[in-house]
Amino acid sequence: MSAKVLNGTELAAKVKAELKVKVEALREKGINSGLAVIIVGDDPASRVYVNHKKNDCAEIGIKSFEYALPASTSEEELLELIDTLNNDSSVNGILVQLPLRKHINEDRVIAAINPEKDADCFHPVNVGNLMIGKPQFLPCTPAGVVELLEANNIQIEGKHCVVVGRSNIVGKPQAILLLAKNATVTICHSKTANIADICRSADILVVAIGKAEFIKPEYVKPGAVVIDVGVSRGADGKLVGDVQFSTVSEIASAITKVTGGVGPMTRAMLMKNTVKATLLQNNLL
Ligand code: GUN
Repeated sequence: MSAKVLNGTELAAKVKAELKVKVEALREKGINSGLAVIIVGDDPASRVYVNHKKNDCAEIGIKSFEYALPASTSEEELLELIDTLNNDSSVNGILVQLPLRKHINEDRVIAAINPEKDADCFHPVNVGNLMIGKPQFLPCTPAGVVELLEANNIQIEGKHCVVVGRSNIVGKPQAILLLAKNATVTICHSKTANIADICRSADILVVAIGKAEFIKPEYVKPGAVVIDVGVSRGADGKLVGDVQFSTVSEIASAITKVTGGVGPMTRAMLMKNTVKATLLQNNLL
């Protein structure tokens, strides 16, 4: 293997240690930071993600409030809970774990969150602010990817970044963040013609499609940086990324692993947003 492995676990630990100091300083001023985490139903993957987020909160000293609601919860009930949390001053951040079940309109739920408490940066107001270059919060996964690149001294400015995937959670905001860092950005998706050729022109390739080992060596320029955001289960039940690590790591200059790459950085950025929300709501920004 020739590629350097970009270690998200290590960098996330550093980010969290810095946040812990900030949270302690806030507590000395009598200010507590709190994150409400809502999970509807019992999807096992969502449960794992929520548990990780709660552990991160505990590590930093952020109080987490979990709302585990039954799968039968109506949209109205969920909106009522969000309204209560919007008006609860001990809650600085509100996160609704996605995806939601089909009978609940995700857009309406996200729009109901007070934008000042939107730790995920999913609310249209926050997405709009990001779009015009004046973000209040940063979207967690895309910001985690950028921090991972920058901490490893990988230049973004002037580079051709290809983002594979166009979701509201990763692909679209990732493209905007890389553009804000002065990259030249191309977005590819399931209808893109000649996708391998476009990917092969990338200096930095970020893949977020949720298709196990979709990216093979013919998609990667030798020496490129490859960031794997996808997580799915392989035939053997093990977690795999969107990139075929064993082969692509032979030709890339730097690469992330699934797990221990982007995932921990996403959560560290969620913690960062929660602390920022706490400062914002206490007029300390
Ligand atoms: N589902 C998958 N990723 C995320 C995320 O970053 N935040 C939330 N709330 N749900 C998700």
